[in-house]
Amino acid sequence: MQTVGKLMKVFVTRRIPQEGMKILTTAGVCEVSLWDSDEPVPRADLLKGVQGAHGILCLLSDKIDAEVLDAAGPNLKVISTLSVGFDHLAIDEIKKRGIRVGYTPDVLTDATAELTVALLLATARRLPEGVEEVKNGGWSSWKPLWLCGYGLSGSTVGVIGLGRIGMAIARRLMPFGVKRLLYSGRTAKANAADVNGEFVSLDTLVSESDFIVVSCSLTPETQGLCDKAFFSKMKNTAVFVNSSRGAVVNQEDLYEALTSGQIAAAGLDVTTPEPLPTNHPLLTLKNCVVLPHIGSATYSTRGVMGALSAQNLLGGLQGTDMPSELTF
Ligand code: NDP
Ligand code: DGY
Repeated sequence: MQTVGKLMKVFVTRRIPQEGMKILTTAGVCEVSLWDSDEPVPRADLLKGVQGAHGILCLLSDKIDAEVLDAAGPNLKVISTLSVGFDHLAIDEIKKRGIRVGYTPDVLTDATAELTVALLLATARRLPEGVEEVKNGGWSSWKPLWLCGYGLSGSTVGVIGLGRIGMAIARRLMPFGVKRLLYSGRTAKANAADVNGEFVSLDTLVSESDFIVVSCSLTPETQGLCDKAFFSKMKNTAVFVNSSRGAVVNQEDLYEALTSGQIAAAGLDVTTPEPLPTNHPLLTLKNCVVLPHIGSATYSTRGVMGALSAQNLLGGLQGTDMPSELTF
């Protein structure tokens, strides 16, 4: 573990973009202990590292629960996560203890929407299969019936969770000639009119969509939302894409739907667990494209996320405004 700086104690659970580290180390308000690795901090080291901390800067792979809060002790004022998703934080416990939370909405919306569209197209038009065939000699000639997929033109797209990212995905998909844009969620959205979005029940969305994109947050209500019953209502020609959180999907049921021909294909940027073991059944399927949770992975986005998470942390430490505070 590497220590830089002084004053209030901060534990940073991983190497983060230098834009963030620079803000923390030059602020003159905190002493930073860094888990100086690109790999996750082992649980025992996390529990040790947070002891006496006034602030924790964590990642989506760190489970911040009562045990971690107890280990940190009464000094803890702020938890800043380098993510927009906060399902890894025990929000009720955090709230009970009066600890503030910072997160990184908006700054990663474009990058994540862009990646989701790329994944949808790669899955629907079978890009990884095509690349593989070029390399392995399977490309014998131009063939009328070979490597055909599904196009967006004239299609119905269903977005589950038309929030910041869901809306950005919808905006990017409409110019491909999408005919209908359906969305589901807890509430209808005023800005849905920008994409001619129709607020429908989940059942309607699932049964009428040619492409289903999951972009909701992971909550007790959305956990396991995409299960056997869900896939059984999808069209046999439909493509399923998830860039929210792996736990929204029941992966055994997805495997069954993909192998039985219940649905055409799936593209996943998120899985359970992460990383997905290399011998996982989903990785044996040609009609399943799995990416390693890279939705927000552009250099500039990660730099801005780093800076924002550092500014959030400083705001929490000093008891001032945080640029992006989670209100609960
Ligand atoms: P938002 O809060 O703006 O959007 C979340 C959406 O989820 C809201 O529209 C909300 O709808 C919807 N939602 C909540 N509960 C349900 C439900 N029961 N059924 C359907 N929809 C529901 O967050 P963002 O768009 O910024 O981010 C969304 C998620 O994307 C994050 O929580 C994170 O998990 C994931 N993410 C993944 C990334 C990646 O790298 N793959 C990158 C960034 C984010 P309503 O308002 O009606 O409740
Ligand atoms: C998030 O921010 O929640 C993503 O999953 C990673 O950027």
